[in-house]
Amino acid sequence: MRTGEQIICKPGNDLISSVQTLMVELSERSYPIYVGENLFAQKELLSPFLGEGRAVIITNETVAPLYAEQTRQLLGAHYADQIVLPDGEQYKHMETVASIYDRLMHGKYDRKTTLVALGGGVVGDIAGFAAATYQRGINLVQIPTTLLAQVDSSVGGKTGVNHPKGKNMIGAFHQPSCVLIDTQVLGSLPVREVKAGLAEVLKYGLIMNAGFFDWLEANADSIIALSPDMLSHLIKVCCETKAKVVAADERESGIRALLNLGHTFGHAIETASGYGTLLHGETVAMGIVMAADLSCRLGWIAPAVADRVRRVIEQNFSLPTIPPAGISVNQYQELMASDKKAEQGRIRFVLLKAIGKAVVTADVAPETLYQTLTAGKQLCRF
Ligand code: NAD
Ligand code: GLY
Repeated sequence: MRTGEQIICKPGNDLISSVQTLMVELSERSYPIYVGENLFAQKELLSPFLGEGRAVIITNETVAPLYAEQTRQLLGAHYADQIVLPDGEQYKHMETVASIYDRLMHGKYDRKTTLVALGGGVVGDIAGFAAATYQRGINLVQIPTTLLAQVDSSVGGKTGVNHPKGKNMIGAFHQPSCVLIDTQVLGSLPVREVKAGLAEVLKYGLIMNAGFFDWLEANADSIIALSPDMLSHLIKVCCETKAKVVAADERESGIRALLNLGHTFGHAIETASGYGTLLHGETVAMGIVMAADLSCRLGWIAPAVADRVRRVIEQNFSLPTIPPAGISVNQYQELMASDKKAEQGRIRFVLLKAIGKAVVTADVAPETLYQTLTAGKQLCRF
C-alpha cells in the first residue's frame, strides 16, 4: 500500500496542517484516504475528485449546522445543493434513499454529479447507496464525521440500508473516489458515540493485530479523551488495515468477512431491539464478547482470554457487553440465519483462535451456540 505525509503551508510558509495519505489499491478504482486536521481548508485535496459536474452534500440535521458551511466552502464552485436527512439509524431505509432520488431528479442532476456524504456511518451508507444506484452510479466522496465512520464505514465501498427483518440487507458495493478524514470534527462527538466507534477499532486488533489490541488496552483513557496523537495513530492503523483487506477481497469472498467479528450477534441484537435503540457500535461490543464466549466454549481460546476481551471492552472502554434480556434464542437464530454470511441456512461466525487471529466457521454445534445465546453474565468458564 502506498502511504505518504504531506505538509501543507500557506504562502509565507506558515504550517497549516500535515496530511497523511493512505491508498486503497483497487487498480483503476484506487483512491486516497486523507487523514489530518483542518482538512476542510484544503480545497486542493478534494478538487481533483469532483470532475466537471455539480456536487450535492448529503448530511443530516445534527451534522449540517456543525460542518455543512465548511463543506460548502471546500466544494467551492462545484457546490450545488445540500440534502439534509433526519438523524438516526431508524431512517436508514429505502424511503430516505427515495427522497434523495426525488431531489436529484427535481434538480436535473446528471451522471457527472458528485454526492458528498458528510456525517457518520448512517449518512455514509445511505448517500453511498444513492450514489451507487442513481443513474446506475455516480461519483461519491466520503467525509466521515464520527469515529466509527472514520475508522471503518467510509472506507471499502459497502453502502446500503436496513430492512425491518435484517440489518444492511439492501445495498451495493460502490467505492468512493476519495475519503477525507478531518480528525478535528470528533471534538463535537458525544462520548457515547466515541466509545461506540471504539468497538470497531478493538475489532481490528482482535482479528489481526494483537499488538494494536495491547496498545488500545493500555491507552484506553487517553483514547476516550481524544488525545490527538493517539487518535491519529489509531485512525491510521485502522484505515491501513481496512485498505489492505479491501484491496485483497473487495467483495467479501474471503478475508474481508473477518471485519464482521461480533456483527453476526450484533446485527441480530440491533434488529431485534429496534433500529436506533442501541448504537451500532454498542451491539458490536456485545457481539464481540459473545463471539469470544463461543470461541471459548469451542475450546479455541482459554477462559482467561475470553475474560480479557470482555474486561477491555467493559472496563477499559465502558461499553455494554450484555445483550438485552428480551431477545429469545429463536429470534437470534432466525435473524442470524438471514445474516449475509450465512450459506444454505448455515450461520457462519467470525470467531477467535487467539487475540489477533480470527477465522470464519459454520462448524458450531447447536447446543454450544445455545449456551452462548443464553449465557448473559455467565460467560464461558471451564
Ligand atoms: P451515526 O451515523 O448514526 O452517527 C452517530 C451520531 O453522531 C448521529 O446522531 C450523528 O448525527 C452524530 N454525529 C455525526 N458526526 C458528528 C459530529 N462530528 N459531532 C456531533 N455529532 C455527530 O452512527 P455511526 O456510528 O457513525 O455509524 C453507524 C452506521 O454505520 C450503522 O448503520 C452501521 O451499519 C454502519 N456501518 C457501515 C459500515 C460499512 O462498511 N459501510 C461499517 C460499519 C458500520
Ligand atoms: N465493516 C465491514 C466491512 O466493511 O467489510
